[in-house]
Amino acid sequence: MRHKHSDYMQWSKTQSRARFNLATSGVASFSLGDLSVNWENLGINGDNSYGYAPLQQAIAAHHRVDPDCVVESAGTSMANHLAMAAILEPGDEVLIEHPTYGPILDVTRYLEANVKRFRRLEENGWAVDPAEVRRCVTPKTRLIVLTNLHNPTSVLTSESVLRELGDIARSIGALVLVDEVYLDAVYEDTPGTSFLLGPEFVVTSSLTKVYGVSGLRCGWILAQPDLAWKMRRLNDLYSATPVYPGELLSVAAFQHLDLLRQRARRIVEADRKLLRDFLKGESRLCAIETNWGTTSFPRLLNGNADSFLKRLRSDFDTSAVPGRFFEMPDHFRIGMGVNTGMFDEGLKRISRALASDS
Ligand SMILES: Cc1ncc(COP(=O)(O)O)c(C=O)c1O
Repeated sequence: MRHKHSDYMQWSKTQSRARFNLATSGVASFSLGDLSVNWENLGINGDNSYGYAPLQQAIAAHHRVDPDCVVESAGTSMANHLAMAAILEPGDEVLIEHPTYGPILDVTRYLEANVKRFRRLEENGWAVDPAEVRRCVTPKTRLIVLTNLHNPTSVLTSESVLRELGDIARSIGALVLVDEVYLDAVYEDTPGTSFLLGPEFVVTSSLTKVYGVSGLRCGWILAQPDLAWKMRRLNDLYSATPVYPGELLSVAAFQHLDLLRQRARRIVEADRKLLRDFLKGESRLCAIETNWGTTSFPRLLNGNADSFLKRLRSDFDTSAVPGRFFEMPDHFRIGMGVNTGMFDEGLKRISRALASDS
C-alpha cells in the first residue's frame, strides 16, 4: 500500500491542545481588524485562474524575484507537495535532512520516491554539513531537501553552506528544495531567499508561521518559470481556482507585513528570554540554543519523551511535540510566539513535571 497519511498532522490536529500549549510552531494569530480591510472591497470571484496577479506581485516583490517564478499554493504544505510532485518520478532518489518536518517525508513516500537521508547532528549544533551531503548523494539523486530555519531546531543554514549544496546538486543534475517557512523569523539581517542563489534552488514558504495569518493559507513556491508552469498545471488537478477572498486578504496582509512581523517578534523575543533562563536552570534537559526562530528542540537527558509528554499533558495540562515525529524520541519541541504568560507557565509546569519524574 502506498503511504497516504501523516501521523504528525493527525496528532497535531487531535492531540496537541492543552491549556498551556507549547506544541505550536507559528506565532499567535492576528484578527482581520489588524489588516484594516474594508469589507465592501472584498469579492467572491475574481481574475485568478493561475493566481491573483496583485498577490503574485506582492510575493515576488517580497523576495525580489520575477512574478513568473511565483506559484501560489494553499500554504507551505501544498507548496511542498506540488514542488516535490512536479520534480520527482516514482523511484527517483530524494535526499532529505534528518531530523526533518514529518510531512515532508510523508509526501515523498506518497510520491513513491526512493528516500535517502543526510544527518544533521546535535553534537554539530544540528548544522547542515556539506561533506555529509556530498557523501550521501548519488548520480541518481534528483532532489536534496532541507528546511531553513530548521524545523524542529530553528538552526539557520548560512548562505555559504547553501551555495555548497547548490554546487553539489548542479554536479549531479539535481535540485535543492528549501522550505523557508520560518526564515523571516530571523529578525535581524534577515537572509534573502535561497532561490536567488542559482537555478538549482526551488523554495517553498507561506505567511502562516511568522506572520500570524495561518488561516489565509497564503503559500507559494519559487521556481524557474518552466518548472513553475509545471507546478501550476499539476495544481489544476487539486483546485480549479484559488480562494479569491483569501487572496484579497493576503494582499492586505502583505501591505501590513512589517507590522505583523514586529508584533510577533515582541512575543517571540520575550518567550526566548524565558526559554534561555529555563534551560539554564534545568539540568534534566539540554538544548542547542538559537537566536532566531519560533521553536526549540530540547533533549530529555533521562527517560522517554513520549511518556513524559503524556504525563505533562494529563497531569499538568501542558503540551509539546514528541520528538518521535522528528524520528528523535528522546527530544521534544517547544514553540514560542503565542502568549508569553502561557509560555512562562508552560515552562514552569515542564519543570514541575520533570521534578516529579526524578
Ligand atoms: C517546515 C514546515 N513546512 C511546512 C509547514 C506547513 O506550513 P503551512 O501552514 O504553511 O501549510 C510547516 C508547519 O508546521 C513546517 O513546519
